[in-house]
Amino acid sequence: MIELSHGPTLAWPALPLVALTSIGPHRKECVMSTTAKPLIVVSGATSKQGRSVATSLLESGGFRVRALTRNANSSQAQELARKGAEIFTAPLELDHQREFVQAFGSADGAFLMTPPVAPPSTDELPLGCQLADAAIEAGVGHIIFSALENVQKRSSGTKYAPHFTDKALIAEHIRALPITHTFVMPSFFYTNALEYYAPRIDGDTVLMPFYLPEDFRAPFVDPLTATGPAALEVFSNPAAYLGASLPVVGDVISPGEMVDAFSRVTGLKAEYRSAYSREGLLTYFPELGENPLLVDEILGMAEYAVEFGYYRDDRDMQWSRTVDPGALNWEQFLRATDWRGGRVSFGN
Ligand SMILES: NC(=O)c1ccc[n+]([C@@H]2O[C@H](COP(=O)([O-])OP(=O)(O)OC[C@H]3O[C@@H](n4cnc5c(N)ncnc54)[C@H](OP(=O)(O)O)[C@@H]3O)[C@@H](O)[C@H]2O)c1
Repeated sequence: MIELSHGPTLAWPALPLVALTSIGPHRKECVMSTTAKPLIVVSGATSKQGRSVATSLLESGGFRVRALTRNANSSQAQELARKGAEIFTAPLELDHQREFVQAFGSADGAFLMTPPVAPPSTDELPLGCQLADAAIEAGVGHIIFSALENVQKRSSGTKYAPHFTDKALIAEHIRALPITHTFVMPSFFYTNALEYYAPRIDGDTVLMPFYLPEDFRAPFVDPLTATGPAALEVFSNPAAYLGASLPVVGDVISPGEMVDAFSRVTGLKAEYRSAYSREGLLTYFPELGENPLLVDEILGMAEYAVEFGYYRDDRDMQWSRTVDPGALNWEQFLRATDWRGGRVSFGN
């Protein structure tokens, strides 16, 4: 452990000096620059996950943040700059290796996430690998990657959810790299119900379509408030989490229970509607019909969660709520956001 002149006691470097100096070409500089606050690069810094991470790191007072965005002038990027982040312009797209390496330059850590990628695009896997490779080339100290389970493997190829499997394959790629790393694994986002699968208002009733069965309890989380504390904990104690895969969970709750809580909190009449079938999904979200592969993926993901479990059985479902006792359950999320069933955009 090294006592920094500013901020909390941090476990930088994460490994004994001899190990660190052998990890990469720039490690020595990193090890020696312990009088400054560690610099963490956040990819997708204006995303729901990314802005949570950037904000938690900055507000802790123990870290500097370099925020990657395509648009330095967006309101979210400006907000991060106001909070003290250095803004670095680069798209999260394939073949921007030179910008990625520059972006990661002299960083002690990096939070890597991949943006939403809809099939038929298969860019997510190579993009995640390119980000990790750039972090290696730049000599970054510790990577956190926002990963998910390998659905292809867990379902023996019976369920199609490439945005899960590709993240697991990126994690496999990172495991083989000469860099210390930790994976956070977010649950289903509460925000999906506000952003992507918004309710339909029918007279005095809020109809709430879910891509899961009414009685199926699944892990959910608020990416905007839960990702940051998880990443802050890992970057503050990287040695404690080497190679770990850590679920980030706010609640384990069924859609039926979510609808009941919505009624209780808002006083509005609300009913569950099933989007746990092609017909249900297209009834409530007909625009998805334009991309049949995306429909396959949503259904594949939902069936996977129901039949195999969202997380592997050996994952620690309590970790994130232990390190962040303030993590919002669904009812607290509803109270905190004052959401009453309208569509919400979390973008720039
Ligand atoms: N929804 C869920 O339930 C759930 C659960 C677990 C994991 N995930 C995963 O979480 C990830 C998304 O995280 P999020 O919801 O926090 O992200 P988000 O809010 O949708 O934001 C994505 C960010 O990526 C940045 N970006 C850079 N290049 C981009 C590009 N070419 N196309 C699109 N965006 C680009 C954008 O920032 P700029 O415009 O500033 O560049 C944008 O703010 C996905 O990989 C998803 O699979 C989702």
